This record gives sequence, C-alpha cells and structure tokens, in this order.
Amino acid sequence: MRMFCALALAASLVVGPAFADAPSGPNNGAPGNAPVAMPSPAAKQAFIDDLIARMTLDEKIGQLRLISIGADMPQPMLIKEIAAGRVGGTFNSVTREDNRPLQDAAAKQSRLKIPIFFAYDIVHGHRTVFPISLGLASSWDMSVVKQAARVAAIEASADGLDATFAPMVDISRDPRWGRTSEGFGEDPYLVSQSARASVQGFQGASPANPDSLMAFVKHFALYGAVEGGRDYNVVDMSLMRMYQDYLPPYRAGLDAGAGGVMIALNSINGTPATSNKWLLRDLLRDEWGFKGVTVSDHGAIEELMRHGVAKDGREAAKLAIEAGVDMSMADVQYLKQLPDLVKSGAVPMRDIDSAVREVLGAKYDMGLFADPYRRIGNAAQDPKDVNAESRLHREAARDAARKSLVLLENRHDTLPLRKAGRIAVIGPLADAKIDVMGSWSAAGKASQAVTLLQGVRDALGKQAQVSYARGANITDDPRVVEYLNFLDWDNPEVVQDKRTPQQMIHEAVQVARHADTLIVAVGESRGMSHEASSRTSLSLPGSQLALLQALKATGKPLVVVLMNGRPLDLNWPKANADAMLETWYAGTEGGHAIADVLFGDYNPSGKLPITFPRSIGQIPAYYNQLRIGRPFTPGKPANYTSQYFDAQYGPLYPFGYGLSYTTFSVSGVTLSSRTMARGGTLEASVTVRNTGKRDGETVVQLYLQDVAASVVRPVKELKGFRKILLKAGESREVRFAIDEDMLKFYNAQLKHVAEPGDFNVQIGLDSEHVQQQGFVLQ
Ligand code: NOJ
Repeated sequence: MRMFCALALAASLVVGPAFADAPSGPNNGAPGNAPVAMPSPAAKQAFIDDLIARMTLDEKIGQLRLISIGADMPQPMLIKEIAAGRVGGTFNSVTREDNRPLQDAAAKQSRLKIPIFFAYDIVHGHRTVFPISLGLASSWDMSVVKQAARVAAIEASADGLDATFAPMVDISRDPRWGRTSEGFGEDPYLVSQSARASVQGFQGASPANPDSLMAFVKHFALYGAVEGGRDYNVVDMSLMRMYQDYLPPYRAGLDAGAGGVMIALNSINGTPATSNKWLLRDLLRDEWGFKGVTVSDHGAIEELMRHGVAKDGREAAKLAIEAGVDMSMADVQYLKQLPDLVKSGAVPMRDIDSAVREVLGAKYDMGLFADPYRRIGNAAQDPKDVNAESRLHREAARDAARKSLVLLENRHDTLPLRKAGRIAVIGPLADAKIDVMGSWSAAGKASQAVTLLQGVRDALGKQAQVSYARGANITDDPRVVEYLNFLDWDNPEVVQDKRTPQQMIHEAVQVARHADTLIVAVGESRGMSHEASSRTSLSLPGSQLALLQALKATGKPLVVVLMNGRPLDLNWPKANADAMLETWYAGTEGGHAIADVLFGDYNPSGKLPITFPRSIGQIPAYYNQLRIGRPFTPGKPANYTSQYFDAQYGPLYPFGYGLSYTTFSVSGVTLSSRTMARGGTLEASVTVRNTGKRDGETVVQLYLQDVAASVVRPVKELKGFRKILLKAGESREVRFAIDEDMLKFYNAQLKHVAEPGDFNVQIGLDSEHVQQQGFVLQ
C-alpha cells in the first residue's frame, strides 16, 4: 500500500503538465521520441525526501550498488537481489528483453518499487560504431562529435539503456597510455569543446527524454596523467597545472548538464580519487556546484586497500562514502560494511542519505520514476533482431568517419587514386573487422563492420582489379598475443597466421608486383589501444615495418593507411611512403569512409588532436608546453638550450596538423585594435584562400600567448577554431572575437585572472605555422 503511495506521489509530482506526454504507467508504451520537460527542482526534492523517509537502511544501501551484468552474479540471483531492494542500477546488458525482467523485479516486486537504471560503456557508438573519440576530435567539428553521441543515444535508449559511462575526457599527453584512444586528445580547449558536444548529444534536450542517455563524465580526475603512461599508475601534479589544463574538460562536461561523474582509479598527489574528499566534495560539489551522482570505477572501493590507504574493507567503505562516492561499481564493500558502519555510528546516516539522494535524483532525472519502462517499452514492440541492418545509422557513421581521417603525407599528389588499374590492398589491418571498430565498441558487431578491403572493393566495383595479401601478423610476439586475447579465449581477437614473417612478406611482395598501386594498412590491433594496454614503444609492432620496407622496394606507389589509437613512431613511413592517412579506428563504416578519401570522393579535412613525437624519448611532446629559460631556437642550434642533442628538435607531426587535396594560404593577422580595455573585446581576422584546384575544408586555429605574466605561461594555447569550406580559388575572411575571459589563467593563488600586458594572437592551419600580431590588455 505504501509502495502504491510512493508511485502515486511520484505521479502527482512528476506527471504534471510537463509530463503529460509521458506514458502513464509501467509497461504501457514503447519508447517514443516525445521530449519530456523537467519538473521543478522543488518537486523533485519533495519527492525524493518523501521516499528516503520511508526507506530502511538496507534499502538505502541497496540503492548505492551498481552491478555488472554477467560478472557479479547469475541472473536468477540478481533478480532476487533487485526484488529485495538491494540494487540501484546495473551495467553491461544491452537489450530490452534482458533489461525488462530486471526492471520488473525493481519496479513491480521490490517493496518501494524504486526503478533501477541500466548503463553501459557507450563511448563512440552503440550498435553503429563511430570513430574512436580521438578520431572524432580529429574532425575539429563539434557537430560531428555531438551527432555521434546523439545517434549512440538513440540506438542505446531503443535497447532499454538509460545511461552511458561517457564521455571520457581525460587529457592525455603520453601516448604510451593505451586509453589515449578513448579521449579527445591533449588539448584542454579542444577536449572541453568535445566534452560539451558529447554530453549535449547523449543527453539531448533532457536526460529524461526517451531517446536520451544520462552522461557520466569520466574519469574524474586526471586519469590521463598516470605516471609514465602506465595504466592505473599514480598522478602527481601541481594544482596550477590541474586547474589550467586537466580539469577544464570535466568541468565543461558538467556545465553542459551531465548528470553523472565516474571517479578515476588513480591516486592524486597521494590520495586515491575514490577516497579524495578534496576532489569529490570541495572541488566537485562546493566549488563547481555539481548536483548529480558520482559512481566509483570498477572495484575501486576495494582497491583502496591495495593503494594502502585502507587497512580493510570496513575502512575502505568508510573512506569512500565520506569522500563522496555515491554508488559503488562492482564492489561488495558498501553492501558488506555500510550497515554496521552506520549502526555503530562510525558513518552518519546523513552521508548515506546524501548518496541515496543523488542516486534517486539521477533516476528521477532519467525520467524513471514517471515511467520505469520509458526506454524498455513493451515486449510486443521489441525488435525481432537487435542487430538488424535497419537499426544501424551507417550514413551518419560514414560521414563522421570521413571527417575524422587525417592526411599526413601526399607526395606528388599520389592521392586521390584513380578508380582504375590494379590495386593491391595489403596489411594485417586491411581486412580486420574487429579492429576497425576500435576498443570500447559497445554493442557493435564486427560482422557488420566494413574493412578497408571491402571499402576499396565497393568503391571500385568493376572499374579496377583488387588483390589482397595479409603481409604480416599484427605482432610476432606470442606473449603479446596471449595478453591481448586473455579476456576471451573462446573468441580470440588476435588470430595469428601460422606462416613466418618472411613467408607472409614474400607473398605480399608477389601480390604487389602485379599491382599498380599499394594500399597498406598497418598499426595496432584494437586491444593494443585499450584499458590496461600501455606500451613501452611507439613503433609499428612485429614485422609491419619490414613489410612496408619490402613493399617500398618494389617501387610501386605506397599508400600507408594507419589504424591505431595513439601517436606512433612514423619516422620511416613519413620519409618513404608516397601518401599516408591516419584513420585511427574509423568504426562500422570505416572501410567505406577510408575509400571515399583514397579515391577522392571526399577531400580530407581532419587535423591531429594530439602531437606525434619523433620518438618515445621525446614524450611528453604536447604543443602547449610551459615556457622555459633556455628554449631551443630553430636555426640556431647551440649548446645549453633545451633539446635532445641526438634527435631533431620538435614533433614529427604537430598538434593541429593535417593536409588536404587542395592547398590553403593564410594572410597576416589584422586586429581591430592594438589595445583591449578591461572587460572589452577585440577582433582578430585573417583571410584564408584556397590556392589549389579542388574545393576543400580546413580548420583555422586561434592560439594566444601571454607574453609576460606573474607565473610561467605556455608557449601558446588554443582558444578557438573554425572549420571552413572554400571552393577552389575562393578566399574568406575568418574572424575571431577575443575577450578578457580568453586571456585568463590560474595564478599562483589559483585565482582565475587576466593580467595586464602584452599578448600575441597567432592564427594558422596547425599549431606550428602561424601568423602573429600583438596587443596589450590595459
Ligand atoms: C573500467 C573502466 O575504467 C571504465 O572506464 C568503465 O566505464 C568501467 N570499467 C565499466 O565498464
């Protein structure tokens, strides 16, 4: 009876005029697209307060539990646990059919009928896989980033999912870190823009909408700065650097309305994020005013013991709840320890209530109290085949993928290729369906992915002859194969060709000899750029370089197509390939998108969102380094300046770099004024001209440099960009408004200030080649 009251109250508070279009009760409707307006914060608070007042301690603790489907317990037991009110949400189930009985247990059988929510790692697509985030960022087109997230939300919500553990917005400046692939690169501004666009895409107008997902921004915080790029390692960083460079993307995602935060696995200056009160309370709640739910990463509360800050599970649970971890992911410590911690008075009920309030608040914001089946719908309307072609969004994925490709080299206009003659497609990644999807490919099916070989065949039809040879295994090291396959021995991702490297190269050379042009796909298997996949080397693994060298020796035009989730050592291909295209992992439609570029049906426009170093010894090589007293001066190589004497100075490919099939020129910078008053603005403009023979897009990039400040400032910082399309021969004036906010930085007292004095405006088509003009902030 009381339960009925809870739902009745929910209905009276939630199903006001604003919710008039929502299904009126459980299991009545299929998910629709009707937008849902949010009721007032006061109504939400009253509803949650009432519910909390009627919950037992065990029910409250149950709400804090996030269960991994499949991994944590068998389904019958899970259903029992949910019905007993001991589960707040689950993750890893991806169909309405699977989720429905779980929601039945919560919303129909549990005492208070509090719905559970369903989450999943939907990072770059759900059933249709889009390019990895590093690729999406390479488009420098925020409508692409947003669209990828929007499509993912539409597909995932139609599978009964309510939330995603994304976007991943960790700044990564160390390509040894395998999770570089999951983020949007090295730059605070570009990653922040991507974070915002992504949250807007996932959540749509409201996370309550039936076709929206609640976004959990991750990994809070600084996970990308793990020492040495070794996954899960410590982070030790100055507050100034945190505030200036690493924290803005999380903040941007939250300011865009993300309802959740996932807490990082690493420690920060000696305190694990999971037990870090400063991080989760002072910064996140008090300073930033975050009002949503926090969730630990997988097993992270338990790991507090291994970090060596908790002597046992009891202490771990106490530290985490006190620090502000609302939900515990795949972790038993809250369930085991919190009851007694509360009863003994060691943890005040207030802490439990505030965590429960956030969990219920998130469910409320997802619209689940108004209708727990908002996204699950009713069984009669379940898709007959969840993988049906008709459920995919191939066009959107192809469009995003084309825009994510970065042309690194194009000697003698090797590209675009003519659709004629004999083309050999070679390489261990040329026909690798799993790899083209990249890691964290959600519910994407490898069988539906288009490989490079397929893409080339589809593009050419009968117009040209296509031949194929694998040429090499991804790696020749059995230990690496074993490592990459350890997750799923029944379905190994890396399947070795039993021939020797020499035999495979020999076959490839024979195939190449009978071709006019060679398209060679090399790089990493997707598992090499993943969680727990840090590397000590950035070289092409195994015999892939030897393959390229043997193919080069045939004298045939060599087009290198890279598939990788981090910057690689590309010295040899840079010097020797006739053309080189960075394709990251381009997703379900990857092969078609790459072929579009190779054959000129799309003119490439991507730009690198991360610096490519010359060697691993140059790391970190990010472009926006702090200034130093003895900088290396190009053209004046002298002793006692900052450099590695045994290597050429500077990156192999700078941040923001990428070619097109046309060429562009950029005029000098014109400023509307040489002074900026406090609170004022000025305008910087350049004229960009398409100096080539094809229409094409490029990205005009605005960098600012603070010439002298109270603390050391970066050599330059990206502050704006604009992607423009110019017809052959066309010129356009591109203007950027610069205001005082863009000049601000965190000073030694962590105050966000703009200091008077000189600034340089730099505008160019990559971070190295820029036009410059100065002004003074008064
Ligand atoms: C661990 C990963 O660090 C995190 O990114 C992911 O969301 C969770 N596992 C859940 O799969």
